[in-house]
Amino acid sequence: MTALVVGASTGLGRALADELARRGHDLLLVASDRRDLEAQAADLNLRHGVAVRALALDLGGELDPGARIAAALDGLPPLTALLLPIGCSRADDDLSLEAARIGQLLAINLHAPLAIVHALLPRLREAHGVVVLFGSIAAVRGRGRNVVYAAAKRALVSLYESLRQRHRDNELRVQLYQLGFLATNLTWGMRLPAAPAHPAAIARTVVARLHRGSACRYLPRKFALIALIVRALPWPLYRRLRA
Ligand SMILES: NC(=O)c1ccc[n+]([C@@H]2O[C@H](COP(=O)([O-])OP(=O)(O)OC[C@H]3O[C@@H](n4cnc5c(N)ncnc54)[C@H](OP(=O)(O)O)[C@@H]3O)[C@@H](O)[C@H]2O)c1
Repeated sequence: MTALVVGASTGLGRALADELARRGHDLLLVASDRRDLEAQAADLNLRHGVAVRALALDLGGELDPGARIAAALDGLPPLTALLLPIGCSRADDDLSLEAARIGQLLAINLHAPLAIVHALLPRLREAHGVVVLFGSIAAVRGRGRNVVYAAAKRALVSLYESLRQRHRDNELRVQLYQLGFLATNLTWGMRLPAAPAHPAAIARTVVARLHRGSACRYLPRKFALIALIVRALPWPLYRRLRA
């Protein structure tokens, strides 16, 4: 069985690749930096004895990433898990971004997951596999920062629902994790309201649940309550928050 990790080179993706290799999954790793990925693939192969392929793709500008990924899967054991911990945010994503930057953020955070899921659906259905999407607490309610990033993450919730509406659990399982703050590049240098979770701990939970059914969950779990409170705030009060 092969697992595909898109956004595998750092943060949560790297931790997921580690945990999957430790549990004996063959892997295809995708990210933008070829040298990083090749070193990571060689290291996982050496430590865990699994087959690991690396595919470098700039998903900010790749029109048909699914075709390149499908070609890279040829010859590996059947694809049973597609994990999409890819993400990119910008400090200036605040309603002042120019069009080209908006397009790039949407390409990485939304077009890539959609296009890759679409391209690999036949293989995943054949293997009764699982698609794992990663959303964000940043998308719970619209605000003046992370505007494009949050719009893309909110759209992933729609993708999650579409996939579940179309496929029964015995054909394809779909799991969506709405993540709180993690200690990764994405939050590096930010002043956060709470201590960030360690990606390795999140990866252990996600991989342990891969064989389970479709579900949407908050991780760490306390963010389910935080999301509930943020959604319940009356609009006049919410508007006044410097969120
Ligand atoms: N960190 C948080 O606090 C947090 C909170 C909520 C949700 N999330 C979500 O959780 C997931 C994992 O986040 P993370 O913090 O682990 O992020 P991260 O450390 O920044 O890693 C992001 C991954 O995406 C890849 N990537 C980014 N741009 C790419 C591009 N143009 N082409 C190909 N690959 C690209 C990166 O590879 P390269 O470096 O090679 O480009 C890297 O492997 C993401 O979906 C993120 O949105 C994170």
